[in-house]
Order: sequence, then C-alpha cells, then structure tokens
Amino acid sequence: MNIEVLIDEEKINNRILEIADLINRKYNNEELLVVGILKGSFVFMSDLIKRLNSSLEIDFMIVSSYSGTESTGNINIIKDINKDITNKNVLIVEDIIDTGLTLSNVKKILLDRNPKNIEICTLVDKKERRKVKLEADYVGFEIGNDFIVGYGLDLDEKYRNLPYIGKIIN
Ligand code: IMP
Ligand code: MG
Repeated sequence: MNIEVLIDEEKINNRILEIADLINRKYNNEELLVVGILKGSFVFMSDLIKRLNSSLEIDFMIVSSYSGTESTGNINIIKDINKDITNKNVLIVEDIIDTGLTLSNVKKILLDRNPKNIEICTLVDKKERRKVKLEADYVGFEIGNDFIVGYGLDLDEKYRNLPYIGKIIN
C-alpha cells in the first residue's frame, strides 16, 4: 500500500487559521460548544480549537450507521454529548463528509434539543458524493472521489497519525 501526499501539513495549518478566523468573526467571543464526531475529528478539532477565541467548551459524540438501513441513513448513538444544548451555539466538527447521511442525522438529533444555533465545520468535503441535502458551514478542502487517510482519517483504523492528508495508491 502506497500513500501519496494530497494536502501537506503547511496547507492544513494555513487553512485552519482561515477557518478559525471565520468562526471567530461569527461568534465574536460568544459562548460556543464544539462537538467533535469521534474518532476521525480529534486531530482537526484539537488544532482548530487552539485558534478559536470564544469562551468554548468541548464534547464528543460517537455514532455508527444503523446496519441494514443505509438508504434511510439512521444512526446509532454510541456515545452522546453530556451537555444540555438548549439555547446554546453548537459547532459540529467532522473529519470528512461523504454521503452526508451521518451528519444530517446528527444535525437532526441535535436540532430537536432546541439549541440557539447549529453549524457544521468539516476538514474535507466530498460534495459530489452526497446522497442527502447537507451543507457544511465551514469546509477545509473539497475533494473528488479519492479515498483519503491521515490527520485523523483512517483506513481500517490505521493511518490516523499521519501529519498530512494522503491518498491511497496501490
Ligand atoms: P457519510 O455519512 O457518508 O457522510 O460518512 C462520513 C464518514 O465516512 C466519515 O466520518 C468517515 O468516517 C468516513 N469516510 C468517508 N470518506 C472517507 C475517506 O476518504 N477516508 C476515510 N474515511 C472516510
Ligand atoms: Mg468519521
């Protein structure tokens, strides 16, 4: 298995500064709950929050697709957030959006809890592969149909530790 660098560390770091700037302008020191979707988001989220200047708290969710119902995209919540989000600003952080099924369900579940506002920040967006209507508010990089690893993203749980985003080439 060979991995080719698609987006190097410097590009990732620069883009994070730009995204953080947008988020900082939007929330302008308001309180914010940053919710990472585990496991993939943890590297990106850790670098991103260091650049945010809101008074923020963090929490995590673990979700999995409901087996056999891919078309409806129901998800199982394996770990829920611990905080009450009523009237709170929530920023969901994800590694990559592919079909959009995972995040559209997560967003629906969190919206039912009456937050003040929910936004989505994803490091990578595979927009062409969407099966449901879902737009991220902050996107690091848009890519095509490549399978990518590194910087939190895995292939069978491996390669999350790579400091860059790589593309698998056989
Ligand atoms: P969605 O519900 O189809 O949007 O699924 C998104 C999830 O699929 C992500 O959180 C990743 O775990 C996984 N995924 C999709 N594309 C890739 C990829 O290129 N590399 C690694 N994981 C991916
Ligand atoms: Mg994931």
